[in-house]
Amino acid sequence: MEPKEKIILTGDRPTGKLHIGHYVGSLRRRVELQNSGEYDKIFIMIADAQALTDNFDNPDKVRQNIIEVALDYLSVGIDPEKTHIFVQSAVPELTELSFYYMNLVSVQRLQRNPTVKTELEMRKFDGGTPTGFFCYPISQAADITLFKATTVPVGEDQKPMLELTNEIVRRFNHIYGDVLIEPQILLPGNQACMRLPGTDGKSKMSKSLGNCIYLSDSAKELKKKVNSMFTDPLHLRIEDPGHLEGNTVFTYLDAFCEDADFEQFLSEYKNLDELKAHYTRGGLGDGTCKKFLLNVLNSRFEPIRERRAMWEQRIPEVYEILKQGTEAAREQGRKTLDEVRHAMRIDYFEGSSFVEEQDQRFAKK
Ligand code: TRP
Repeated sequence: MEPKEKIILTGDRPTGKLHIGHYVGSLRRRVELQNSGEYDKIFIMIADAQALTDNFDNPDKVRQNIIEVALDYLSVGIDPEKTHIFVQSAVPELTELSFYYMNLVSVQRLQRNPTVKTELEMRKFDGGTPTGFFCYPISQAADITLFKATTVPVGEDQKPMLELTNEIVRRFNHIYGDVLIEPQILLPGNQACMRLPGTDGKSKMSKSLGNCIYLSDSAKELKKKVNSMFTDPLHLRIEDPGHLEGNTVFTYLDAFCEDADFEQFLSEYKNLDELKAHYTRGGLGDGTCKKFLLNVLNSRFEPIRERRAMWEQRIPEVYEILKQGTEAAREQGRKTLDEVRHAMRIDYFEGSSFVEEQDQRFAKK
């Protein structure tokens, strides 16, 4: 179906505080999109039901992180006047829709999902893969389509979910009639943002590896983490030529810095290309680069820290924002689900067409 409105749907699992990988991977973009005025509706979901698929034995962790993630959203500039922030499990229409979608996806198709495969290797569920976890890509398709989202800003790891979503939409529309919208994925602008490494430079930023910089880290914590960041192990003396490949400080600069930062913090250089050239040539120390990075990060995150501190003192208001956002999400969801039920011919108790048609069928001639 051709979309009538431009709608954004995206979200995060509340399994921990959000880190700066989330920020460059998606949060920063969401705020820009929100403020562009180009979208008719914006929904951001705290995906607690999805979080439970691999944290079912730790419900309190999910419960606590609902508010942490809400605080992270508000502090980066998600504006509840423009964006509905809502809680997944409080929209039961999502669960119902997921159940119908299960008929449209084979077990074999789910087994091919590369993101789920990687997660399964990392999680090592003893006692086998929980069915709920195995099926979460289907539930994610419901998340997106219940809101008729046209645009889904997410990180690269969510690509397989969007592919599956589009397959489900096509299949549904083909079998039941044109109801659902095929969404488009919106990926981060550059490679550094796509997959921001942890401070150890080894792999993606991830809580379980302890290599994260959190949005909620204090200036002091940030300084400590930046100073201990992985750079170039071959760059022993300042005059040695340095390497950029795999150098986390430069990857972060790729993700964060803008030309204006040089004017403000390191005016000997005009832009990142000049800084990189000097580093590669030799004669530029890691300390200078780290100090610059720290300044850049602080300039981005200081306002975010301040807003977080403010919202932390207004938890009942945060709660109201979630409650109202969830109500708005349900209203939107109910509309789509009505259309889905009608298309699937299971709308028995809407109007009188079902009873009339059956009555006719059995009427004595
Ligand atoms: N899978 C996403 C994550 O791990 C969270 C999520 C759930 C999501 N449903 C979504 C993202 C729908 C975008 C759209 O962070």
